[in-house]
Amino acid sequence: MLLCFRIFRFDPSTDKEPYFAEYEVSPEPTERLLDCLNRIKWEQDGTLSYRMSCGHGVCGSCAMRINGKCGLACQKLAKEYEGQTVTVEPLPSFKVLKDLMVDLTPFFEKVRLIRPYLISSQAPPDKERLQSPEERKKVDQVIRCILCASCVASCPVSNEDDQFLGPAPLVWAFRYIFDTRDTETKERLRQLDTPHGAWGCKNHFECTRVCPKGIPVTKSINMIKKEIRRFQ
Ligand code: FES
Repeated sequence: MLLCFRIFRFDPSTDKEPYFAEYEVSPEPTERLLDCLNRIKWEQDGTLSYRMSCGHGVCGSCAMRINGKCGLACQKLAKEYEGQTVTVEPLPSFKVLKDLMVDLTPFFEKVRLIRPYLISSQAPPDKERLQSPEERKKVDQVIRCILCASCVASCPVSNEDDQFLGPAPLVWAFRYIFDTRDTETKERLRQLDTPHGAWGCKNHFECTRVCPKGIPVTKSINMIKKEIRRFQ
């Protein structure tokens, strides 16, 4: 099969304006869009820049906007785009470093703000801190987050308000708020009880629609809001 690509190109060190470059690739139908980008880079234009690592939807580094929807290039099969021109752009709302690579520093700073690790006032046991299967089930869905930032890039609130914590950091906050071994629940909820925290979410559901891991992002944020009210 033949696929036509329109790829966003911008090198701030040499280009005055971004532009779209066109390429043609002949992938196997079961190859991924990431494989097509690799073919372009390796066989046609070595200057094309993008991030990738695992190639299997695990590391989150190949997130980009594909035909208007944010997602992982390594999860999209070439055959899904047969007969279409594939327009590939960097994640919106982030500064472009080069071509499809964006500066994710502000995103990871927000993730760090919510303290994405277990905090317990109880002394560590000899072995691990145990959880029942039921307790673990509460966080089963959110622990799938790979921090690809597709949700933040798609969120209308994040696009307008750079103070808003954003969907992925809230998902990581959920992971510890509802972890029965964590003893910082009240403080975590207090931190999110602000207009730029959980209340910044206006239920647009774009995050839920694009999440490559199928996490019910908006529902999780709404559960945080409920928990904030419960503790008030
Ligand atoms: Fe790791 Fe796509 S390359 S998620």
